[in-house]
Amino acid sequence: ILHIVGARPNFMKAAPIMREMFRFPREFHQLLVHTGQHYAPQMSQVFFKEHDLPQPDVNLNVGSGTHAWQTAQIMMRFEPVLEDYQPDWVVVYGDVNSTLACSLVSTKLGFPVAHVEAGLRSFDRSMPEEINRIITDQLSEALFTPSEDADRNLQKEGIPASKVHLVGNVMIDTLTYLLPKSQSNWYQLAPNFPRNYILVTLHRPANVDHADTLVEIMSALETISMEIPVLFPVHPRTRERLKEFDLQPKSSRFQLLDPLGYLDFLSLQEHASLVLTDSGGIQEETTYLGVPCLTARPNTERPVTISMGTNQLVESESTSLVQAMQASLSGSRPKKKSPPLWDGHTAGRIVKVFRQV
Ligand code: UD1
Repeated sequence: ILHIVGARPNFMKAAPIMREMFRFPREFHQLLVHTGQHYAPQMSQVFFKEHDLPQPDVNLNVGSGTHAWQTAQIMMRFEPVLEDYQPDWVVVYGDVNSTLACSLVSTKLGFPVAHVEAGLRSFDRSMPEEINRIITDQLSEALFTPSEDADRNLQKEGIPASKVHLVGNVMIDTLTYLLPKSQSNWYQLAPNFPRNYILVTLHRPANVDHADTLVEIMSALETISMEIPVLFPVHPRTRERLKEFDLQPKSSRFQLLDPLGYLDFLSLQEHASLVLTDSGGIQEETTYLGVPCLTARPNTERPVTISMGTNQLVESESTSLVQAMQASLSGSRPKKKSPPLWDGHTAGRIVKVFRQV
């Protein structure tokens, strides 16, 4: 089995599946390929340690670039790796450029692809991730879905039901596995942070790559910080844009932080009064934790986080953002509930499928 990881959200999805497969050493020989899409220590290395991931067997060291450049480089560098290892399965995760690039190369060379987190759709083709999802799913021989909406999307796209396995959300395996550890770390972490706060993450091109939009968001955060402190761990893409557009917080109650590791970030999510994000995984984690979440996007590929969870979409415009944050902070905290099969046992169900094929 070749597992492909490349960007931050991939690491916590691969970890529980690799751990489960390691329980059957006579059935699975696993190798880990890191494309190097994310390479900064705080975007990559820190997660290997926290999630007990083995060091990558192969690192394609691709780094950053335009979509075409990055995707093409991954494809070119991955092709000889496939030819060397001749895997029975290539397992790809999520919706990043590494997922698409390795799926394309594998399929063309006749190596079957299994896609973990298949079937999610925002129906917004201006998002690079939507293109990556659609194509990866078309190419995959095994599609592991987190929720029923994903199965319906795949059915509409003509994917045979025999390839689709509704297994639940593997991110929640990681969350339930590491929550006790993050909770015990909290006592050391808490004194560094205010008691109540809004936690913010933003990295989508639609939010951060245009000065006008980023100005709206920063101004909303500045305003709300008068009422409650704001903690914002900043993604490298966002850090660059804030510099380029000369945008920095004015209030000392609005703090920019470096990107955090999984355990620290999980603790901060669990204790936040509210999370404002444009991440996919954080919509899911806040749903599981029962923490109110505002997603600064016009759509989401994870609708169960709205219909069953704590998530709500909000426009990236200053007044709407401030109003939505104030309304959430003054409302009652939602009750914790989670969608079916978001139970910490998804990796077990996935590996069961591999053992049967
Ligand atoms: C990528 C994924 C996105 C995912 C996100 C999680 C795609 C199309 N996008 O977006 O779906 O939600 O990862 O973080 O695959 N950079 C660094 N150090 C790094 C990595 C990136 O400084 O280790 C900077 C570079 O300037 C780079 C920029 O961040 O150009 C963007 O990185 P990239 O991997 O292209 O996309 P993300 O925005 O991280």
